[in-house]
Amino acid sequence: MARTGIDTSILHKGAHSASYFDLARAAGEGAEIVDFCIPCNPYFPTPEMFDELSRDLKSILKYYPSDSASITKKLASVLGLHPQTVAMANGSTELITWIDHLLIKESVAIPIPTFGRWTDQPMETGKRVDMFPLQERDGFRLDLEEYVQFIRERKSRVAVVCNVNNPDGHYIPRRDVIRFMDALSDLDLVVVDESFIDFSDAERYPSVGPDAVIRPNAVVLKSLGKNFGLHGIRFGYMLANPAISGKIAKMLPKWNLNSLAEKVVHMISDHEMEYEESLRLLSRDRRSMGRELNRIQGLTVFPSQGNFFLVKLPNEWSGVALRDYLVANHGIMTRECGNKLGMTSQFMRLVVRPAADVDRLVDGMMEYGQRFHSRGGYDDPMEAAGNRRWAESYEDQQADSIVPYPGGQRTGEYTARRAAVS
Ligand SMILES: Cc1ncc(COP(=O)(O)O)c(C=O)c1O
Repeated sequence: MARTGIDTSILHKGAHSASYFDLARAAGEGAEIVDFCIPCNPYFPTPEMFDELSRDLKSILKYYPSDSASITKKLASVLGLHPQTVAMANGSTELITWIDHLLIKESVAIPIPTFGRWTDQPMETGKRVDMFPLQERDGFRLDLEEYVQFIRERKSRVAVVCNVNNPDGHYIPRRDVIRFMDALSDLDLVVVDESFIDFSDAERYPSVGPDAVIRPNAVVLKSLGKNFGLHGIRFGYMLANPAISGKIAKMLPKWNLNSLAEKVVHMISDHEMEYEESLRLLSRDRRSMGRELNRIQGLTVFPSQGNFFLVKLPNEWSGVALRDYLVANHGIMTRECGNKLGMTSQFMRLVVRPAADVDRLVDGMMEYGQRFHSRGGYDDPMEAAGNRRWAESYEDQQADSIVPYPGGQRTGEYTARRAAVS
């Protein structure tokens, strides 16, 4: 009998994870769900900011927002961006849709696994999707030179790169992404999806936004929902030269953005410090969560610069069974990756959360392992790290690389925090 009373059949319904609201409804009033599934910033907005939003809720809901062009202009001024290089929409997903409709004509290359809309959207509109499989043996690390070669062989006309990539958390240094854009300056379009890049602490200025806007065929995507921990608002933006941004902006409906989005855009300049602090706390939690997950014997934790970890479960565990077990017995929602192209149910994506929640997750995972796959207890973490392919010792790890790659890619740049806004 499930301890939380949640009917786990709702987890088995569609190609996507059940939404938080589906689960909350299934759990009933008062049930607490800890969400390790949807990657958002747990430290932003601050409680004071939520209070401010609550105070203004009546007028936010009652009145029309300003038109999208005015909100976009405000966002550009807050972030210090040239207004003509910005187009803002209902989440970066809406921009992916418009990029597909307007800028992808015949084919697009994309490394997999990745965010599903990058493969599904162009397929739905009849484009050829050239999937470049990332390899588990390489820790799902993207080799840009091999990817360029693949794009040339397939004659793809558009190339997409997600930096940081979802679900593996791999980060590509900025200079390499710039080289990649330049190597493909003859394509119809190069898209760099930076929806998770603010969570990276790999280098001070990781974004190629400023580089994209001075190139003829480059687009950078950002998700404000992810950065600000406000997925429900649905807001994201893209950066490109004025011709490309203008083409997309012209297609968007006049009142495309809602009043909550407008309110938050006006709030962020006053809360830059809090945002910066939220990113610092998230980096700290990423390090400690990586250490905690590594205590689970047989679990492989892939190094991440995102606000999530990709893990591979021990061979005899089932991702579907574990996900159901955690929901039913611990009220913990996780993402098993069986429905992601290039992945199997042996993989899970676990969102970075504060330590108390991670304790609950690790306890639940260990309990699952002990109840269903008796393994005779769990090893000392340092000993376990010695057995693991990706790990040497925690002490060796730099700021964010929980598990260094063998022969690693690390540079001396893994030090400074990036600026709050690029
Ligand atoms: C790489 C990537 N890009 C874009 C998105 C969509 O973000 P948004 O919520 O802003 O539509 C996601 C969502 O998970 C993602 O993983």
